[in-house]
Amino acid sequence: MLLALVVCTSAASEERTHTLAQFTRPALLGRFDEDRDGKLSEKERATLRKAFGGLDVPMLPAEPFHYATVARPGHVDQSQLREWDNTPADNPLTNHGATLGRVLFYDRQLSRNGSVACASCHRQDAGFTDPRRLSVGLEGGRTRRNAMGLANLRYTNLKGRRPGFFWDERAQTLEDQALMPIQDEVEMGMALDDLCGKLCELPYYPPLFEAAFDSSEVTSERVARAIAQFVRSLESWDSRFDREAAAALKAGDGTGDFAGFTREENLGKRLFLEGLGGVAEFACAMCHIPPTFNTEHARNIGLELDYKDPGLGGLERPPNEPFTPSNEGKFKAPSLRNIELTAPYMHDGRFATLEEVVEHYSGGVHPHPNLALAFEDDDSPEATSGMRFTQEQKTSLVAFLKTLTDKRFVSDERFSDPFIRGGE
Ligand code: HEC
Ligand code: HEC
Repeated sequence: MLLALVVCTSAASEERTHTLAQFTRPALLGRFDEDRDGKLSEKERATLRKAFGGLDVPMLPAEPFHYATVARPGHVDQSQLREWDNTPADNPLTNHGATLGRVLFYDRQLSRNGSVACASCHRQDAGFTDPRRLSVGLEGGRTRRNAMGLANLRYTNLKGRRPGFFWDERAQTLEDQALMPIQDEVEMGMALDDLCGKLCELPYYPPLFEAAFDSSEVTSERVARAIAQFVRSLESWDSRFDREAAAALKAGDGTGDFAGFTREENLGKRLFLEGLGGVAEFACAMCHIPPTFNTEHARNIGLELDYKDPGLGGLERPPNEPFTPSNEGKFKAPSLRNIELTAPYMHDGRFATLEEVVEHYSGGVHPHPNLALAFEDDDSPEATSGMRFTQEQKTSLVAFLKTLTDKRFVSDERFSDPFIRGGE
C-alpha cells in the first residue's frame, strides 16, 4: 500500500535549471583556487553555503558510486540470495536511484522543521542504528522503541516467509516503510504534499530525480522508491566471520573451526550455529539465520511475563505460528550483523551490553503463553530456557557475535553523509 501519491512540478525549479554536474566534487571544489587534499575549510563551507542561499548541499562523486553490483564473498550462496531478495520488479536498484536515496536519507529538509534526517536515528558508525535507548524526533519527542540497525534488509524472504519491517513488522515493503518516519509526528512530522513542494524547491533534487527516474518530477512514490533502493544497497559482507567462512570454504572445509578464529570464537561459533550440545533447536541460528543473520518472523523470547509493548500483538492479525494463542510480545529482530556497534539491544533497548543479552538467553527467559519453542525445556517445567550456558560458553558467544563487525560497511563512503555541513 503506497500512501496517497503526491506529484509536484515547480515552474520555478524548471526555470532554475540546475544540473547534477554542479553538485559533483570537482565542480564544488573547483570554485576555489588553490587545492589541496579535497577537504573543505570552515570558510569554504560558509562560502558554498552562501552560494546556495544558505543551504547545505550534497557533494557527489563525478561518476555515481556502484550500488547495483556488489562483490560478495564465496560462502554467500548467490542463488539463495536471489530467493531471499525482496527487490520488487518495478523498483530495481540503480546507481542513480540509490544516489538519490542516499541524499534523501541524510537530508534534514525531509522533516518539518529541518532538524531531523533518517540518519539522525540511523548512524552509519553505529551500524545504522541509534546509540540512544529511544531516539529523539523533530521536537524533542521520544520514539516508542529503540531504532533498528539497517544491514542486508534486501534479503528477508527467509524460509518461505517474508517478515515486514519495524519491530512489529507493520510495514509490508521497504517502499511503504520509507514514507512512515517522514510523516510520523514524533519523528519527522512532514505531510507528503508539503514534502514534495519543499524538495522541488531545493536546487539539487530536480536533477537527482531526473537522473534516477528520467524526469525531474518529485513524487512521494519516487521518494519512497529511491530511499528503498538506498536501504537495499546497505549490504554488509566483510566481517571477520565472512573472511574466515570464505577461506574455509575455499580450503574445502565449510563446517569446521575457522583457522583465523580464537578458540573462544570457534566455541561461540559452534554454540551459535549448531546449538548447545549440538541440539539445533537450541541454536541461535534457528532464528538469526546466517549469512544475513536476519530473522524470518517475529517471535516472543520471554523478555517479560506481561509485555508492556505488545509488539506484533498490537496489530490485528491472526497468530503468526501454530500453538500460540496470539502475537502478544512477538517482535522481529534486526540483523545481528555489526551487533557489537548497535547497542542498546531489544525493541526497548533494555540491555546495554551483549553480556546482558546472553545472560537473558541463559537464565532470564520468562515463561509466556507465546514463548518461542526454542526456549521450552522439556526436562524441567520451571525452567523456561533449555539454553543454560557456562561462564566460558557465555564469553564465547559474545566473542563470536563480535566477529560480525564489518568495519568497511560502517565507513563505506557510498553509504556516508554526502552533505557539506557548514556554519553550524
Ligand atoms: C526519530 C528517529 C528515527 C528517524 C528520523 C527514522 N527512523 Fe527508522 N527507525 C526508528 C525506530 C525507533 C525504528 C523502530 C520503530 C518501530 O519498530 O516501531 C526504526 C525502524 C526502521 C526500519 C525497520 C528495520 C527493520 O529491520 O525492520 C527501517 C528500514 C528504517 N527505520 C529506515 C528509516 C528511514 C529510511 C528513515 C527516513 C525516511 C528513518 N528510518 C527515519 C527511528 C527513526
Ligand atoms: C526463537 C528465536 C530466537 C532464538 C533461538 C534466539 N533469538 Fe536472539 N532474538 C530473537 C528475537 C525475536 C529478538 C528481538 C526480541 C525483542 O526485542 O523483543 C532477538 C534479539 C536478539 C539480540 C538483540 C538484537 C538487537 O538489535 O537489539 C541479540 C544480540 C540476540 N538476539 C542474540 C541471540 C543469541 C546469542 C542467541 C542464542 C543464544 C539468540 N539470540 C537466540 C529471536 C531469537
